[in-house]
Formats: sequence, structure tokens, C-alpha cells
Amino acid sequence: MSRITPPPAGQNHIACEIALVNAVATDKLGETLAGLVGPGDVIALWGDLGAGKTSLARATIQTLLAASGLREDVPSPTFTLVQTYEAGTLPIWHADLYRLSDPDELIELGLEEALEGGLLLIEWPDRMEDELPAERLDIELKEVGEGRVACLTGRGTSWEDRINRAQEMMVQNDA
Ligand SMILES: Nc1ncnc2c1ncn2[C@@H]1O[C@H](COP(=O)(O)OP(=O)(O)O)[C@@H](O)[C@H]1O
Ligand SMILES: [Mg+2]
Repeated sequence: MSRITPPPAGQNHIACEIALVNAVATDKLGETLAGLVGPGDVIALWGDLGAGKTSLARATIQTLLAASGLREDVPSPTFTLVQTYEAGTLPIWHADLYRLSDPDELIELGLEEALEGGLLLIEWPDRMEDELPAERLDIELKEVGEGRVACLTGRGTSWEDRINRAQEMMVQNDA
């Protein structure tokens, strides 16, 4: 699978070992994230096939849509590479770059536009190589037994508070 390189010291905030015992817990994390994200945010979703990247993105996107009174299917962008949504005034871009053969293709996909005030959720972010924005939230999902474990790494100061809040909210869910 694709691995994350550690962020520079002092630039990151990490919340690992967030237990996602079942698919409902993954949805909860997605709903939690929906309450914390906004225009210009980039979320890179790392993990093997079947780790839950699409599930997490779907829960986030559907929660944001629901807040604007919208209900839409959120299919995996496996073949389209990008799916876009409008949650009120917030454009959402959901990308699955597994099939991207060259970072030059990113221009055709219009992902730059997403960075100008949209929310961008990226599966297989390693495919972006140097084009992957340095300021972002990395979420790594790993299979552990029947469930999953999430590790959140915020790169850039804007994520620190939000990661703390996400962790608190997930702990409250467990209680
Ligand atoms: N925390 C979890 N525990 C167990 N199964 C999960 C969990 N989260 C998601 N799943 C399931 O794992 C599968 C993940 O698929 P998907 O989200 O498409 O993965 P990916 O996009 O990483 O390939 C789905 O069947 C989903 O219901
Ligand atoms: Mg997927």
C-alpha cells in the first residue's frame, strides 16, 4: 500500500488509534469530520483496498449534503476519478486517483479548482506525488481484526484544534 511520510516536526498534530469497530463507527468519524471541515480543506485518505476510504468520504459528503437538505448517492470515483457535489455554497470534490497514470492528468481533472475554496477528499493521494498539497489532513485506515483503526495527522496549524475535537467526539461516541 501507499505509505505516508512523517510531517515536519512542529507542523503536525496526530490522533492515532481511533478505533472503528464496525462500519457504523466509520460513518461516525465521517459525520464528525463533516462538522469540522470547510472551504479549502484537503483530506488525504490512505489505506489498502477495502480499508474504508470511500465509506469515510461518503459519510462526510452525505452529512454535508444533508445539512443543506440534500440527499445524493455517493458512488466510488473508481472509474470517473472525480465526483463533485455542491453542499449549499461548498463545492466538494471526491477523487480516487488509483487509476491516475501520471500527475500531469490532474490538470485535466480540474483538481486545482477544488483547492480554490472547495473541500477535496482524495483516495490514493500518493498518485499526486509532488502535487499533493502540503497543508492537509491525512487519515490512514488500517484493518485490524474485523474492524479498522484510523490515524489522523494534521499537517499545518489549522488542523490542531480540529483533530483534538474529532478525537474528543469519537471518544464520546464510544462511551
Ligand atoms: N470500521 C469498519 N469495520 C468493518 N468494516 C468496515 C469498517 N468501515 C468500513 N467497512 C467496510 O469495509 C468496506 C470498505 O470499502 P470501501 O470504503 O470501498 O474501501 P476503500 O475505498 O478503502 O477501498 C465496506 O464494505 C465497508 O462497509
Ligand atoms: Mg475507495
